Amino acid sequence: MDNRHRKGRPFSTVLECAISRRQVVKAGLTALVATPLSSLAETKLSPVVSSALLGFNSVAVSDLIDDVVVPRGYSAEVFYRWGDPVSDGPSFKMDGSNTAQEQLQQAGMHHDAIQFYPITTDSSLDERGLLVMNHEYIDPQILHIGGGVFDQPLQFSAEKVLKEQYAHGISVIEIKKDNTQWQIVRPSSLARRITATTAMTVAGPVAGSDYIKTEADPDGKVILGTFNNCSNGKMPWGTYLSCEENVNGYFKLSNPEKKSDKQQLAWQRYNFGNSYYGWHQHDQRFNLDLHPNEANRFGWVIEFDPFNPTSQPVKRTALGRFFHENVAHKLAKDKRIALYSGDDSQFEYVYKFISAKSWDGTPGAHHGQLLDEGVLYVARFDDDGSGQWLPLVFGLSALTKENGFDSQADVLVHARLAADAVGATAMDRPEWITVHPDTGAIFVSMTNNSKRGKEGKPAKDAANPRDHNNFGHIVQLNEQDAADLQFNWQIFTLAGAEQDKQSTIYGDGYANPDGLMIDDRGVLWVQTDISASKLNSGAFEAFGNNQMLAIDPVTGESRRFLTGPVGCEVTGVAMTPDLTAMWVNIQHPGDVPAKLKQQGQVKTPDYPNAASNWPDKAENGRPRSATVMITKDDGGIIGS
Ligand code: FEO
Ligand code: CA
Ligand code: CA
Ligand code: CA
Repeated sequence: MDNRHRKGRPFSTVLECAISRRQVVKAGLTALVATPLSSLAETKLSPVVSSALLGFNSVAVSDLIDDVVVPRGYSAEVFYRWGDPVSDGPSFKMDGSNTAQEQLQQAGMHHDAIQFYPITTDSSLDERGLLVMNHEYIDPQILHIGGGVFDQPLQFSAEKVLKEQYAHGISVIEIKKDNTQWQIVRPSSLARRITATTAMTVAGPVAGSDYIKTEADPDGKVILGTFNNCSNGKMPWGTYLSCEENVNGYFKLSNPEKKSDKQQLAWQRYNFGNSYYGWHQHDQRFNLDLHPNEANRFGWVIEFDPFNPTSQPVKRTALGRFFHENVAHKLAKDKRIALYSGDDSQFEYVYKFISAKSWDGTPGAHHGQLLDEGVLYVARFDDDGSGQWLPLVFGLSALTKENGFDSQADVLVHARLAADAVGATAMDRPEWITVHPDTGAIFVSMTNNSKRGKEGKPAKDAANPRDHNNFGHIVQLNEQDAADLQFNWQIFTLAGAEQDKQSTIYGDGYANPDGLMIDDRGVLWVQTDISASKLNSGAFEAFGNNQMLAIDPVTGESRRFLTGPVGCEVTGVAMTPDLTAMWVNIQHPGDVPAKLKQQGQVKTPDYPNAASNWPDKAENGRPRSATVMITKDDGGIIGS
């Protein structure tokens, strides 16, 4: 037993709160109830207790170039790659020569979060469903022949911009289970692509406000497109939420000093300035010098009905504008809905929205209106293990005219500035949030923060307890009810290797937790995102390629379930309701990791597969982000 694990953990208060409100329905959790609270910390740490939830043998750390590895007894099959047709559209061309119009009918690039929606019909003998997933961003060197704006500036064209815009966004694909295997249905009347040009309506307090009016949209009611769709959420009434994350990198801004002080401050706070893609050269709305309000039209959560391929997505502005990672939800006892979302940048915040009205429990996309009326809060983590949700409401506390805010629209468009003003706690890059289906406990990954404790930056605190936080951590929050404005919190895990003195890992080590999803059995799936600049080198060599682990949230035991090909991030996981099929996204395989860079490997448009050729392994091929389907060979429950 290692006492360092127990330091600073307000275990008893937090668990008491979680357990008292919980209905124990899952066999795997029954043991927890029989365990006295005082011994729970020991249960988590005992090296002899093996989790009853996890029934597979860990896979080893991997530095394999072109392989996804899963435990013995499981199969991983490539399911849906960048460029695969969503329906019966054009097929992928390995030389990158697909046109923009072809890309519009194919899977986008850089798959991120994913959800499964069962289709229930009376007549069909087949099991059917939808997979809906985000395509977060693109790699122009892999997308095009000749690369993007930085590779061949003179050949950068409107056609290339359009192809890049169409490679962003969201895919909806229809799948069905034939005999024993799930397959994509082609053609499908439900298949759909949403891109950086798809028209969306705006709802909530910012709709029609001056902050989002532009020459092309003088009423501030219709926004073209969504991009940098990182992670997602699924509403209990059947819709899909997609989160706009690092939207700053799409806009050019050369002369901020020509605008008001307030505007300049806002751009600074949201880090606008450099365009990574050069779209403004052929699509003026990405030039903030000409169209300053375009910046305010992105950084939102969008919602749409995946079962209706002509439904128009809606930007839900009441949820605030920041670099949203994902959205997790919980229902209050009075059936109001609470949404939790992190802002993934260094020293940013965790937010919660509580709807004004209750959901009546029926399905239907019209319930999305519940997300337009309510209060957005931001979290303050106090050092004693308690916390407060602080309201971001114009006129309350510091959010007044005297402090420069002029309306609720202003507060929501500039949620980061509002959160600064009310004294929220700056966190170590909040990524995904997931809610335990039985206990209601909320888990938030803090992926890393190399600047924590540096001169001029916030020092470590109880909720972000490591200076120069290389490996990241996971924080657990507990509330009595989803409508509560108080919570308790504890550090669930400090990531790192098991032998690392600063980590509290029990089981397989990992770094930079990002994707989180708790399945219906209560297994916490954790996906890692070690950046290519650190991957497979120095202190990160011990972790190998990015991976997915299964964790028992009660015992804390972690077991490595999947390792990805070199350079990739593992992000996004969805399962069928019976937990016998799982889809996991492998994003940006082929990014050149630090170790290969040090050996002189350079990826170029002529050499896109410098690091990896996954999944096709074709000669002169290109690496492709892809969805992988995982099944247990005996047809059983994944992870059991
Ligand atoms: Fe798109 Fe924070 O990951
Ligand atoms: Ca992420
Ligand atoms: Ca990340
Ligand atoms: Ca990513």
